[in-house]
Amino acid sequence: MLQTLQQLPPDPILGLSAACRADPNPHKVDLTIGIYMDEQGVCPVFEAVQIAQHAMIAEETTKAYLAAAGDERFNTGLQRLVLGAGSAALQEGRVSSIQTPGGCGALRIGAEIIHAAAPRAKVWVSDPTWPVHIPLLGSVGLEFHSYRYYDPGSRGVNFDGMVSDLKKAVAGDVVLLHGCCHNPCGADLTLSQWNVIAELAEQQGFTPFIDFAYQGLGDGLEEDAAGLRLLVSRLPEVIIAASCSKNLGLYRERVGATIFVCNDAANARAILSQAQSAARRVYSMPPAHGALLAGRVLTDDHLGGIWRTELTAMCQRINGLRSDLRTALEARCGGDYAFIEREKGMFSFLGLSPAQALRLREESAVYMLDSSRINVAGVNAGNIEYIAESVAKVL
Ligand code: LMR
Repeated sequence: MLQTLQQLPPDPILGLSAACRADPNPHKVDLTIGIYMDEQGVCPVFEAVQIAQHAMIAEETTKAYLAAAGDERFNTGLQRLVLGAGSAALQEGRVSSIQTPGGCGALRIGAEIIHAAAPRAKVWVSDPTWPVHIPLLGSVGLEFHSYRYYDPGSRGVNFDGMVSDLKKAVAGDVVLLHGCCHNPCGADLTLSQWNVIAELAEQQGFTPFIDFAYQGLGDGLEEDAAGLRLLVSRLPEVIIAASCSKNLGLYRERVGATIFVCNDAANARAILSQAQSAARRVYSMPPAHGALLAGRVLTDDHLGGIWRTELTAMCQRINGLRSDLRTALEARCGGDYAFIEREKGMFSFLGLSPAQALRLREESAVYMLDSSRINVAGVNAGNIEYIAESVAKVL
């Protein structure tokens, strides 16, 4: 039986990251996978998380399963972080959430619920979108349509194209939106554009499904949530896939949640029961370690303060790297790289062809995705000139 299956090509992100790790070139630069790296090229553990971890280990008395919905403290803390402590939907009790294995688990549970509610639902995804969205949601049986989003010519959002495509989305359809720090292009909607999306959702009746994996890495925790909160304040239903991989640095711990903003409290409870049943048939119970850490950090004023300061520094450093990279590329390559400074979060497209991205890997050991998506958080003072010089060579 197993012999009928063929070897698959490597994953477009994980495969390149592994290829970089295996490259013996001492000058190699990994701009592939979206992890934050500091000036030393290390993905650090937040101090607030370390403090929480010491306390947790000292106090831990059991490794028994968590509840089916996960850790309550974590769920409450994350709902407040994402929706805002003063959220009307929270006060009205029309929000429920389930702790999931990372943001991917959150997307998957969201997809399971969408499929249970509307098996023929079409999911509208941005062109381009994170390559894993399609297999992750599609394996549940959902179908896709794409809406125009990134315009390589203007290096920004093709908002007219987006709106005209989303006018075809109808009640029973789902529109997948990137809450902030668009992956892969870094070009985000303005608040007035979010307003137009809210109006469209009201008129057309589609349900927004927001992938929210980078809160705090664009402009700040509150700023990055503004578009999402605007939709939640205006619409009866919003589904959110939140992740703590990036903003709490808990990548390998797999911590996230699917948050359901529902029409009323009874529906929020019903959806939670459905989400628990979906989790039970997919992976049974969520992992505990990371969620218990995140729950402590998110609900403790002292730890939360330390974490917010660290996250702010991380966000400011990414934005500083964006400016520095623009300067370095303009100096070495000529041309206009102002878009790198305008874009948000970890990712931007450099605008190279797949052949140029391949040459960069082969000739300079500078690794980026074939689409020329770079992880800006992989740039540092020690490699920035080398990156710019290597890009200039392939242009
Ligand atoms: C990325 O896009 O690089 C990250 O979200 C990590 C991943 O799982 O692909």
